[in-house]
Amino acid sequence: MHASAAIPVIAIDGPSASGKGTVAALAARALGFHYLDSGAIYRVTAFAARRAGVSLEDPQALAGLARGLDLRFDGGEVYLDGQPVGDAIRTEEAGRDASRIAAMPPVREALLERQRAFRQAPGLVTDGRDMGSVVFPDAALKIFLTATCEERANRRYKQLIEKGFDANLAALFQDLSERDARDAARAAAPLRQTADAHLLETSDLTIGQAVEQVLVWFREASAH
Ligand code: CDP
Repeated sequence: MHASAAIPVIAIDGPSASGKGTVAALAARALGFHYLDSGAIYRVTAFAARRAGVSLEDPQALAGLARGLDLRFDGGEVYLDGQPVGDAIRTEEAGRDASRIAAMPPVREALLERQRAFRQAPGLVTDGRDMGSVVFPDAALKIFLTATCEERANRRYKQLIEKGFDANLAALFQDLSERDARDAARAAAPLRQTADAHLLETSDLTIGQAVEQVLVWFREASAH
C-alpha cells in the first residue's frame, strides 16, 4: 500500500456555486487538514492559456501547458509563476473557460498527479467534480453537495457582488444551468453522485449546519 493511502481524504463534489468550496475550506480548518480547491486549478490553467495565447480549443497544447504550470496555493491565494492571480480567476468568464478545458481528457490527465500531491498528513479536504470518483476514489468520506439552481444563482450573485463584480441574477441562472449540463454530460469525469457518496442538500441549511454535517459523517466514517 502506498504510504499516502493512509492519509484521510474528504472528497466534496457538486455543481457550480453550491457552496462546496466554502464548506470544504471550513471543514478543513475545523479538522486541521489541508484544503484543495481543485476548480481553481482548472480556472488558473485556462487563465494561463489565455495569457500565453494558447488556444482553448487545443487539448494537447493545453495539457502541455497544464503539466508545466508553476502553481502554488497559500492562505487561500493562488500563485502563478510566483505572482498572486487574485480574483482574475473568479469571474464567470473564467469559470466558463475552466469548464470548457475541463471537458478535455488530456487536460484532466495532466492535472491528476498535481491534485493527488495535495494528499498530505494529517489529512485533506478537497472539492470539485470528480474528487470522489476519479482523483481520490479511496477517500474516507465522499459527499455530493448541492442546492437548487435558484439558490445557487443567489449564492453566486452575492459572492460576485461582494467581490465588486457586476452580476445579473437571470444571466447567472442561465450560465449555471449551462455549465452544470456541460459538466454532467461530458464523457471525461462527468459530474455525478457516486453510489458511495452522501448527499448533502444545502438549499435550506446554513453554512455552519452544512459543515457540522460533514464533521458528523467524518467522525462516523473514522469510527469504522
Ligand atoms: O465555483 P464553481 O463551482 O462554479 O467552479 P469551480 O469549482 O471553480 O470549477 C470551475 C470549472 O472547472 C467547473 O465548471 C468544472 O467544469 C471544472 N472542474 C472540473 O472539471 N473538475 C474539478 N475537479 C473541478 C472543477
